[in-house]
Amino acid sequence: MGPMNAPPRLPGGGFAVWSRDRLAAARRGAEECGDVWQLEPGVYVAATAGPCEAVLHRARDFPKAPSPLFPPLKRSGGAPTPEERMHAHAARMRGLRAQAVAARIGEIAPRTARFADEWPTDRDVEVLPLVRHALADIGVHYLFSEDAPALMPYAARLFLAREVLVRPTRWAWPHWVPTPARRFRTRQQIAFTDALRPVVRRRRSSGRLGDDVLGQMLRPSSRHGPLPEEAVLDTLPGITVATFETPSRAAGWILLELARHPRAANRVAAEAALLPADPAATTIAHLDSLRYTQALVREVLRLHPPSWLLTRRAMRQTQLAGYTLDAGSTVLVCPYTAHRDAREHREPDRFRPERWLDDADPAAKPGAFLSFGTGPHGCEGTALAMAMLTLLTAQTARRHHVSEPPGPEPSHQVTTFEGLTTAGLRLRAAPRH
Ligand code: HEM
Repeated sequence: MGPMNAPPRLPGGGFAVWSRDRLAAARRGAEECGDVWQLEPGVYVAATAGPCEAVLHRARDFPKAPSPLFPPLKRSGGAPTPEERMHAHAARMRGLRAQAVAARIGEIAPRTARFADEWPTDRDVEVLPLVRHALADIGVHYLFSEDAPALMPYAARLFLAREVLVRPTRWAWPHWVPTPARRFRTRQQIAFTDALRPVVRRRRSSGRLGDDVLGQMLRPSSRHGPLPEEAVLDTLPGITVATFETPSRAAGWILLELARHPRAANRVAAEAALLPADPAATTIAHLDSLRYTQALVREVLRLHPPSWLLTRRAMRQTQLAGYTLDAGSTVLVCPYTAHRDAREHREPDRFRPERWLDDADPAAKPGAFLSFGTGPHGCEGTALAMAMLTLLTAQTARRHHVSEPPGPEPSHQVTTFEGLTTAGLRLRAAPRH
């Protein structure tokens, strides 16, 4: 098989069309070309569930590039070895898996309740900064417990560094050029690491390692012993931002859909009425009982996957969905279009949380829900994200009617550059009585 078998090109497509409206171009590509299409020579888009899943699972054929956002810092001690990285990953996952999250619902719930309580009512409010503040409080606390307050300001500046870095620029500078944004990023990464280092040393020398994610990373494993300090510190800037950045984008979409679907919001409020009056008494059993709220969160993530485009590289020439992809090409995996495929989801553009409660719906099939990715690089924080977002949704709907501001001004602008975002989202909350 040769170039004859290349994926179809989108007529009139290419980067010019893509950069004008990336969501529209992605939808047109999926409609007109099908499973896999070609944006430019050497740039392919996996547009439907099957090929998306295949690319994410075949991590050897389609490796993920190391995150350019927080690259490992150069250090005199040397970078962690691949074994140390694997060990660090396993240790992190002990702290992030579903059972670990389940044990800490009572710490998460009061912070989501506080978000709802502190939302200024009866006027338009720009909500994303408020949401981000609440979720950062939860995320940083989840990772570092009583050391969280000291680390919060550094976490906020890491987020800022990322925002500056992903802002579209006229020139795509090669990754080794130290642009001002990249120098700012590196300074914040160093500042965060320098603030965390004494915490790591104090916990180790006192023997009180802690029951949080950092504590899990400090526990020696039977096979590898204790992790070197650099291997503990290395990944935590990225993980820290991950705990609240994507979840905040998701929360923006959730609050917007609550505003647009008052009946769904009423149903969430009814479910949330069964939560304990003292949020600190909330347990995993309460969270599990919020079935409709969880379905609503999932439905929002299906329609508006914040990570709507994932990047992989084809190292060798390889086959995908019957097409031949060139060695060295880029493969863009598109959960956004996969989620709006009528073969996978009935009435795919409709907001219908009930679909997740109906076992007969095709939505239950593997590959039909890719908002957290899948395969070896699937999201590490799925359980934490679902817990935070479900509680935030329930507590908010329980206390408030949420609505879009009246008048002709749009409540937000959809941006797609880093994640799918309701940029500038303004909403209004009125207390429910
Ligand atoms: C609604 C919230 C979230 C969404 C939609 C989301 C989505 C994703 C997706 C799609 C990926 C796969 C990226 C790829 O394959 O290229 C991913 C990876 C990842 N996520 Fe999340 N995420 C969320 C929350 C979180 C949270 C709370 C954490 C906290 C620890 C987290 C940590 C990570 C990490 C560390 C990875 C990288 C895994 C790897 O490369 O091996 N995420 N996430």
